[in-house]
Amino acid sequence: MSKKSVEKLDSSRLPRHVAVVMDGNGRWAQRRFLPRSSGHKFGVDALKKIVRHCAEVGVGHLTVFAFSSENWSRPPEEVQTLMDLFVKALERESPELARQGVQLHVVGDLSAFSTEMRTLVAQAEALTQGNTKLVLNVALNYGGRWDMLQAAQALAAAGEPITEAALTRHLALAHSPDPDLLIRTGGEHRISNFLLWQLAYTELYFTDVLWPDFGAEAFDAALADFARRQRRFGGVPAATTADKSRAAA
Ligand code: FPP
Repeated sequence: MSKKSVEKLDSSRLPRHVAVVMDGNGRWAQRRFLPRSSGHKFGVDALKKIVRHCAEVGVGHLTVFAFSSENWSRPPEEVQTLMDLFVKALERESPELARQGVQLHVVGDLSAFSTEMRTLVAQAEALTQGNTKLVLNVALNYGGRWDMLQAAQALAAAGEPITEAALTRHLALAHSPDPDLLIRTGGEHRISNFLLWQLAYTELYFTDVLWPDFGAEAFDAALADFARRQRRFGGVPAATTADKSRAAA
């Protein structure tokens, strides 16, 4: 990304945390008469570019939906392709993530994965744990309902009182603030059991661009759209300077 386009973004109106549903890999491949698995491979390349871009522009947290609790129902070959991609990406990309100052977390129900996969996840997380440039959360075998359920079960098992703050502490994303902006590519307008608890006041941004085509410019368009939003969190708009001077007169 050029220095110029970094400067164009108003850093005071940048989201601290962006969540992304990376949709459209399959259609991207089918339009090119390629197998769906090839779309996922290009999807990994798109993700690498967006990670680098987030670190450059100063978005502090990026959470991506890589594999949902429901994705197991896809054809076995496609599930296998995705698993192979995750393993390869963990092996190959962790040193580069560490170099870029990225702190990696894999969030989701990892009990479904092989010991090999869980070891790779633990190694990649350990390699990147002290980094502060960007927190990258990769949601794997993740579902918002699963997350709330496991948090509630953890509270019950510990005999802790069930409060909003206590439940939040047990969620898979306890180490990140709630997302300010959710981007969904691929033209669908759904949350699809992503961060159900954390999206309560998140600004939603939908684009028809398919994930493998989603680059830095498309990401910046989402940031620019976010910068124009007026967030109220259930309250009333903050008084403008003009309102204040009228009130004082
Ligand atoms: C949705 O597109 C995409 C997925 C289910 C997989 C997303 C995974 C990646 C981009 C790879 C990420 C890799 C790592 C290492 C984290 P789709 O298949 O539903 O597309 P369609 O709607 O066009 O069928």
